[in-house]
Amino acid sequence: MAEITQEKTNEIKAFIAECARKDYPDSYVIAVLQNKVQSLFGYLPREMMDQVAEMMNVPTAHIWGVATFYHYFNLKPIGKYVISICMGTACYVKGADEVLHVIKQELAIEVGQTTEDKLFTLHEARCLGACGIAPVIMINDKIYGELDAKKVVTLIKQYRKSAAVA
Ligand code: FES
Repeated sequence: MAEITQEKTNEIKAFIAECARKDYPDSYVIAVLQNKVQSLFGYLPREMMDQVAEMMNVPTAHIWGVATFYHYFNLKPIGKYVISICMGTACYVKGADEVLHVIKQELAIEVGQTTEDKLFTLHEARCLGACGIAPVIMINDKIYGELDAKKVVTLIKQYRKSAAVA
């Protein structure tokens, strides 16, 4: 997914050309980064950022400013499964720190990192809106609640297994 190919570059170029025909083309930086670059690569590759700056005729610093301001942009490659562990109050009180500890141990990564096999990325979150079933984690867009150390390890193993057969 992350490889920069001529085909993907052309797709981004075509989208930028489309934006350039509209009013205030500079205001399409977020759309280009989100709808094209991140959706094509899963993150914002540095090299691609430079190319986007050139194609849009805006300073690279501006593109980077936008990319680093919004938390939903990934500046590094991410895993197939993004685990967000809720460290909000309700989850913390119900043992989120223990769940986090076990996840870090099971995956051998810290928060913000991706496993070597590129399967999992670990993020921390503040309240995933499911406090009633705390402690909670989200894997991609799926919520899992009432977790403990054992359940979370089983869950990770299930994801590993389904990735292996996919
Ligand atoms: S505090 Fe964790 S879901 Fe609300």
